[in-house]
Amino acid sequence: MTAKLFTPIQLGGVTLPNRIVVSPMCQYSADDGAMTDWHLIHLGQLAESGPGMLVVEATGVTREGRITHGCTGLYSDGNEAAMARVIQACRRLSRNPIGIQLAHAGRKASTHPPFAGGKPLGAGESPWQTVAPSPIPFNDGWHVPHEMQVGEIRQLAADFVQATLRARRIGFDAVELHSAHGYLLHQFLSPLSNQRKDEYGKNRMKAPLEIAQAVREVWPKERALGARISGNDWMEGGLGADDAVAYAKELKRVGYDYVCVSSGAMSPLAKMKVEPGYQVGFASKVKQNVPIAVRAVGMIADPQQAEDILASGKADMIAMARAFLDNPRWVWHAAERFGVQVDYPPQYARTRHDLWPGAALARPLGSKAAA
Ligand SMILES: Cc1cc2nc3c(=O)[nH]c(=O)nc-3n(C[C@H](O)[C@H](O)[C@H](O)COP(=O)(O)O)c2cc1C
Repeated sequence: MTAKLFTPIQLGGVTLPNRIVVSPMCQYSADDGAMTDWHLIHLGQLAESGPGMLVVEATGVTREGRITHGCTGLYSDGNEAAMARVIQACRRLSRNPIGIQLAHAGRKASTHPPFAGGKPLGAGESPWQTVAPSPIPFNDGWHVPHEMQVGEIRQLAADFVQATLRARRIGFDAVELHSAHGYLLHQFLSPLSNQRKDEYGKNRMKAPLEIAQAVREVWPKERALGARISGNDWMEGGLGADDAVAYAKELKRVGYDYVCVSSGAMSPLAKMKVEPGYQVGFASKVKQNVPIAVRAVGMIADPQQAEDILASGKADMIAMARAFLDNPRWVWHAAERFGVQVDYPPQYARTRHDLWPGAALARPLGSKAAA
């Protein structure tokens, strides 16, 4: 029987040839939001390695919506042209779908990249005013965000729409709204960061759903539309899996095709229990309760682990981030593990173990030691 990992799945009008997704990963390597040669090579090598879908990193819908000075954006013609160059190159390497995550960092914007400490930008480092539903900083010493006015929330929806139109012109197959990891849409959803007294506080899903709806209206039905949602804030008084179910139900009602269930990053004080598959339970809860395609993510790295999650019906797709950085050929090796034939770029076809049996001795599958 074919491994479930290698069966196709339909999201809206888009067919993923397998259920393995490269999770969105910020590279902090853009120039005023514009992708660079780093992205060309990073995304190119991931595209050619055969994932069912490759999702481009959290991309700011405005300049101020970026996390760092190096984050990608879709707020200018220059951003759009630079991203189009990269995506067109990826298209020449792979026929598989490519998506983009659209985001606004809110109170977590204006920081250094994680590899430079991840702290807020200082006075001499061109910081910018951050925004949030309530003027509560992410942590002590972080920028105090400006509390968004109703007109600014409406403008935010318009900014998401503009970025979506740019993504449509570039030719992405999927758009994924980032409403997890403590960024702006998650900040509206969580009671820890949204303490407004108005309608956007009484109904914390209001702003994210208005934005989701506005994006739905301009994103073609024949492409795929999804969202990354949070299964747990890991904090007393924060969101839990039931909230993820409620939000996913609303996204389904608005016309979304899938959700990816992540968690955490709402507060630095969160006590997360991080272990293999630590978020799968949240994904499974959403899958049991909402008729929407569900992607699981988080410390999934072994092909059998991924297959078991799908075969036991806990999720419909698997996303992986670090496993792909560690081993961009993950899909090929998993295919060999399960005896599945996948397309290789002809230039690399000779790496297939059945064509080059010596490879199995040089690098036993699943073994890093002998790599
Ligand atoms: C380098 C790096 C950058 C990331 N950037 C993003 C991002 O842009 N958007 C997002 O939703 N998650 C981002 N994440 C989180 C991953 O997508 C993923 O959810 C997380 O790493 C857990 O999966 P893993 O255990 O397979 O790495 C990033 C993770 C890494 C390692």
